[in-house]
Amino acid sequence: MEKKSIINGKTIFGIILAIPVVLFVAGVLSAQIPWFSEKPPLEFNSDMDNQFKAKTQQGTSFFADRATSRPPVEGTVPREGSKYKLQMNEVASADSLYKNTLVKNDFVLARGKNRFNTFCLPCHGADGKGQGKVVQKGFAPPPSLVVQKASDYTDSKIFHIISAGQGVMPKYADKLSEVDRWAVVHYIRSIQEKNGLKPNSNQQLALSTSTKGE
Ligand code: HEC
Repeated sequence: MEKKSIINGKTIFGIILAIPVVLFVAGVLSAQIPWFSEKPPLEFNSDMDNQFKAKTQQGTSFFADRATSRPPVEGTVPREGSKYKLQMNEVASADSLYKNTLVKNDFVLARGKNRFNTFCLPCHGADGKGQGKVVQKGFAPPPSLVVQKASDYTDSKIFHIISAGQGVMPKYADKLSEVDRWAVVHYIRSIQEKNGLKPNSNQQLALSTSTKGE
């Protein structure tokens, strides 16, 4: 008797038709094909999507104070530059200890703007008037940087505030290099000038090579 094979032409045709349907359904479910839903895709295999790790700006149960951003460990030394020597309340010593020797040019101003817009804008606003997004969300509004008072600060004092913080404003000595902090000072001066102020810069440029003789 002739044995009827299960795999006949019809079956093969059916399988070939089914393949795209299966791929399409799998594609939609795994969100490879965006279609009708904005919900997160079904996870067939979560890979490493969910891990027990601390994410920046999110709380964690790992530390008692729940903060993920940790202060540098006691005794940490910077890889580049040197540790900022003054504490927040030692602003009076800033003028004699830290002088602005960074020559202002387009590159320095662009770098200062870039760092300002990254680290300061969230609170101080792009115009320096103190209405950044963080303030709009309820953080203490900082005073405007484009008023006579801030314009009268020396470069060293602004450098000190950036480095050591002031009141609730955190310090940035561990986040911005010394040169970047001076570049930010130059940038703040430039927006003060744009607002018609005459900044009280105590910049002390090194003697130019031509005056050194030889
Ligand atoms: C988390 C918000 C926040 C960020 C980010 C921030 N500041 Fe501040 N800043 C403040 C607050 C609030 C004050 C007022 C602090 C006080 O005097 O109690 C302040 C004060 C200042 C002052 C002194 C103003 C005055 O009239 O006394 C300067 C200068 C300043 N900030 C510069 C900067 C620079 C430059 C950056 C970026 C490197 C920066 N701040 C980042 C919140 C912030």
